[in-house]
Amino acid sequence: MVGVQSRDPSDLLEAEHAVARVLAQGAVLPRVYPRLLEAIGGALGWDLAAAWETGPDDAMACVATWAADGVEDEPFATATRALRFSRGEGLPGRVWRSGRPVRIPDLATDANFPRAGPARRAGLCCAVCFPTRGARGVIGAIELFARRPIPSSRALLETMASLGRQIGQAVERAAAEQALVENIARKSAILDAAFDCVITMDGDGLVVEVNKATERTFGYRAEAMVGRDLADLIVPPHMRELHRRGVRRYLETGQGRMLDHPVELEGQRADGSVFPVEIAITQPEIDGPPLFTGFIRDVTDRRLADAELRALAAEQAALRRVATLVASERDPQEIFSAVAEEVGRLLGAHSANMIRYEPGNQATVVGGWSRKGTPAVEVGPRVPMDGDTASVRVLRSGRPARVDSYDDVPGALAAQLRGLGFRCAVAAPIMLGGRLWGAVIVSSVRPGAFAAGDEVRISSFAELVAQALANAEARELLAASRRRIVQAGDEERRRLERNLHDGAQQRLVALALTVRMVERKLQSDPETACRMLAHAGTELDQALAELREIARGLHPAVLTDRGLGPALDALATRAPIPVDVAGAIDTRLPAPVEAAAYYVVAEALTNVAKYARASEARIDVRRDDGRVVVEVADDGVGGADASRGSGLRGLADRVEALGGRLEVSSPAGGGTTLRATLPCLSG
Ligand SMILES: Nc1ncnc2c1ncn2[C@@H]1O[C@H](COP(=O)(O)OP(=O)(O)OP(=O)(O)O)[C@@H](O)[C@H]1O
Ligand SMILES: [Mg+2]
Repeated sequence: MVGVQSRDPSDLLEAEHAVARVLAQGAVLPRVYPRLLEAIGGALGWDLAAAWETGPDDAMACVATWAADGVEDEPFATATRALRFSRGEGLPGRVWRSGRPVRIPDLATDANFPRAGPARRAGLCCAVCFPTRGARGVIGAIELFARRPIPSSRALLETMASLGRQIGQAVERAAAEQALVENIARKSAILDAAFDCVITMDGDGLVVEVNKATERTFGYRAEAMVGRDLADLIVPPHMRELHRRGVRRYLETGQGRMLDHPVELEGQRADGSVFPVEIAITQPEIDGPPLFTGFIRDVTDRRLADAELRALAAEQAALRRVATLVASERDPQEIFSAVAEEVGRLLGAHSANMIRYEPGNQATVVGGWSRKGTPAVEVGPRVPMDGDTASVRVLRSGRPARVDSYDDVPGALAAQLRGLGFRCAVAAPIMLGGRLWGAVIVSSVRPGAFAAGDEVRISSFAELVAQALANAEARELLAASRRRIVQAGDEERRRLERNLHDGAQQRLVALALTVRMVERKLQSDPETACRMLAHAGTELDQALAELREIARGLHPAVLTDRGLGPALDALATRAPIPVDVAGAIDTRLPAPVEAAAYYVVAEALTNVAKYARASEARIDVRRDDGRVVVEVADDGVGGADASRGSGLRGLADRVEALGGRLEVSSPAGGGTTLRATLPCLSG
């Protein structure tokens, strides 16, 4: 080792100036280190230098090395860069722990210098290391190596302590600035990636910063916005004053309606178009003049979706109202009017109508509604289904149809609609039982007023109308069937009543007479009385049997089984006076004719027994030119009067029901003749 010299104080000063010059140019990490090492090493005459930084892993790492011209440093620098030192370890570790410069006069003999091998090969013999110190203490170290002994001096160590402080502070500042730059870059990236517009405005209402979404949404370049009045840029003119007043009030009073409360307002794009926005404004807590950050979202889609949802809800409510009306079985007329109104209002029409198609290309207007002040199509009259109106299209196709302009549509109906001021219409068919029944039509005085899909919306109402009609039809069918059932019941009751009267009475009247005769003969001729009683018993049995048959809706067995001739013979036999049966019908007649003839004779003979006081009677039955004539005559007192009882009237009804005629001839004292003429084409 040769020439050990202490450094000249001017060298130390030069070193401090050189470092100051480097730092004055602005420290960019880690590029500043090699220049610092060169400034220090060069000024103080060292051969090699290394800069170290403490890291988050509690270890020191080499961040730069330097070698004076002509010094072969590669193996030593490589070994240095590969090392990590903890506190107290190696030269930088010792400086880190003590916080003071450390000098190694002889690298070869130092016990705590792990790079002794590479140092020897590089010809290095001594070293000094001083800490770089920042606000948070030791943040690194600078090592200087020389191939010749360099004596230490107080001045050198002080200079190093001073350089360490300068460098440490500069490095710390540079690291903080760098972190800030990175932070800002990160923030911009986040803001630019946001879907919402983020706009920062100062207390004068001038734009400070905007993100990419703002550029996209409002149609301005960021440069064109920054520094300009925010209200002029994105607030529609009618709201600008309100906006400015709000900002002023907030700055004066600290009271603001908008701050931290999202509200829906309108925004204006660069092209002047206005659109709905949701705005939330916050005030970042920073020192200095106030700043406001607005988060703005274009809510056009949401508004549309809301409007669609509202329209859907309105439609459902209208459908529900009509459905309730349909279910309540109101009169179809009332439902027609209600549907017309609901559909008309729902689709924003000026008029709505319901028509029923009629034969011969016509339709009847069965229901209608029109907005106040709008002409209405009259309900009631028939209208021609000519030309090419919406209702005619439905008639032709059986499907929903629309006409966006009646301007050039030919035909009387189109002319009539034009005359009323209507310009367009949409219609849907009402199908009943798979058949086109009518149509629901909405019209407007504005051309092209109806949206695509309105046909489908009317169709739902048309289906409800069809349902109402089907209900009404079903109700009418049910009522008619009920009427028929009641009618049939009445008829049956009347039939039974008549048959009981006409059929059973004769036997019972005869029986009553027999009993009275028995009463008279009981004393004078007990034997005959006894015989008569026995006969009366048999008659009673038969009367009961007949009653049962009539109650079951059947005619007397003799009539059903054997026909009119034998049945009349039986009646004659039962009569209390002699009855002659003239004429004869051997063949069977239609059952209703046989029954009518039988009951005419039975009632006539009953009346004879009850009123005529006749000595005899005569039955005559004959066929005459497609008719059967039944005649019962007695030689009694006459004077029969149909208005005094129900028997003769009932017989007339019975005969007339078959298209026949009943005649009564009964002059006082001249006997009574009853003649029934019954049509009888077959049998
Ligand atoms: N053959 C007859 N000879 C005399 N008078 C008769 C004769 N037939 C009916 N009349 C009189 O005519 C009236 C009407 O007869 P009708 O058969 O219509 O009623 P009714 O016999 O009195 O009552 P019902 O037949 O309902 O039991 C009788 O009340 C009776 O006075
Ligand atoms: Mg009678």
